[in-house]
This record gives sequence, structure tokens and C-alpha cells, in this order.
Amino acid sequence: MNYKNIRVANIKDLKKGEMRQFSVEDNEILLARVEDGFFATAAHCTHYGAPLEKGILNGERVVCPWHNACFGMKTGKLEEPPALDALPHFPVKIEGKDLVVQLPAEIPSQCTPQMAKYNPEADTRTFVILGAGAAGSAAAETLRQAGFEGRIVMLTREDILPYDRTAVSKKYLQYDSKKDSLVLRSLEFYNEWDIEVYSHKLVTKVEAA
Ligand SMILES: Cc1cc2nc3c(=O)[nH]c(=O)nc-3n(C[C@H](O)[C@H](O)[C@H](O)COP(=O)(O)OP(=O)(O)OC[C@H]3O[C@@H](n4cnc5c(N)ncnc54)[C@H](O)[C@@H]3O)c2cc1C
Ligand code: FES
Repeated sequence: MNYKNIRVANIKDLKKGEMRQFSVEDNEILLARVEDGFFATAAHCTHYGAPLEKGILNGERVVCPWHNACFGMKTGKLEEPPALDALPHFPVKIEGKDLVVQLPAEIPSQCTPQMAKYNPEADTRTFVILGAGAAGSAAAETLRQAGFEGRIVMLTREDILPYDRTAVSKKYLQYDSKKDSLVLRSLEFYNEWDIEVYSHKLVTKVEAA
């Protein structure tokens, strides 16, 4: 990947515990001063794109101003939902009094957390998740993020992939009536990570054994 080093700010631009958004060419990045270090991430929340500089920097954590997702400022790691993805983060060097950020040629808006690939030879267990809402989808992703390599099956009585139910009374009713715009992850995402989603399946009884 190609990187470029760009002078973004002066060390005096940020006091300890402060964060600010800076424009860099056609992009916006967030710079924060945590203790004596400077850290840079993408400037917008990976949930619905809130400007994170309007949120709160609490120690090493950035709290989104809209729905309180939390990210680690030092790593971009997602620490609290409702966002699903981490923030891209970029190395910062101090050159004299300048803050120089190493940016990739194309800055991604989000980073999907690392997940295990399906490998039934390594793990023969199956997890069946009843209900494919935000909780079910988060459970499936969390299993893969925790390294689970077995089979994951999600069952829902609805005819749609896991979706953001909170949007049903907001943008969906107001101006965006395409059901697909509500989904949390695409079908390609579930296929890529071998998370099987079965719709139109009403669960009537559970026999765990
Ligand atoms: C219109 C609306 C607006 C909302 N707005 C907000 C908001 O602004 N802020 C906020 O914090 N919260 C809001 N909420 C609440 C929020 O959406 C829920 O807390 C959240 O969706 C819960 O997620 P969940 O995955 O636990 O459950 P759900 O999203 O309810 O998912 C449960 C899943 O299980 C499936 N299921 C249930 N029973 C069966 C069965 N027997 N067999 C097969 N499948 C089954 C369902 O079809 C569904 O897919 C709103 C809810 C609604 C309905
Ligand atoms: S936009 Fe950040 S949590 Fe929703």
C-alpha cells in the first residue's frame, strides 16, 4: 500500500486531553493528544458518520456524540456499540513542532474487526442463534472475532437480513423506504464470514440437546 507523510498541525494546536478534526487534502482526520502522545484516526463515527470531534475524549476513549459508540483513540478499536466497525488509525510522528501523519493513498472510512475464518476441521461445534436482530448479528460477529471456527447459523422469522430496527421509525418512514438500506451487514459480508442466515424460519420449540 502507498503511504504519504503529511504535516497536519503544530503540537501547540492541541492541549492534553483535547481532540480536533483537521482537513487533509480531500479527507478529514481526528487528531487527539492523550497524555503526552498524539494519535490520529478517521474523523467520523463508523455507525452513522457523526463528527467525533463533537463527542467526548475520556482518557484514551472517544465517545460518539450521537449514540455513544466508543472507540480507543490509540488504536481505533471499537469498544462499545452500536457501531460495528473500528476506526482506521494512522501513525503520528513529531518533527520539530509539527505533527506529521502517515496516511494511506486511499483512506478507508472504517475497519472491520479481525475475525476467524470458518474451518469445520478445527472446530466441529455449531452455534444456532435464534433471532437475527442487532443482538443476534452482534453475537455471530463476536463469535468469529473471538476466534470461533465452527458453524454459525442464525434463524429469523422475518424476510430480511439483520437490520437496524431503530431506523424503522426514522429515516425509513421519512425518506428512505428501501428495506435493504436498513440492513446492518450485506449478504456478501455474511457469506464471506460463513455466517448462515435463514429467513422465514419461525422457531417454535428449542431442544438444546
Ligand atoms: C420502531 C422502533 C424504533 C426504535 N427506536 C429506538 C431508538 O431510537 N433508540 C434505541 O435505543 N432503541 C430503539 N428501539 C429499540 C431497538 O430497536 C431494540 O432495542 C433492538 O432492536 C433490540 O435488538 P434485538 O436484536 O435484541 O431484538 P430485535 O431487533 O427485536 O430482533 C429479534 C429478532 O428475532 C426474531 N424472532 C423473534 N422471535 C422469533 C421466533 N420465534 N422465531 C424466529 N425468529 C424470531 C425477530 O424476527 C427479529 O429478527 C426501537 C424499536 C422500534 C421497534
Ligand atoms: S453515529 Fe456514532 S454511535 Fe451512532
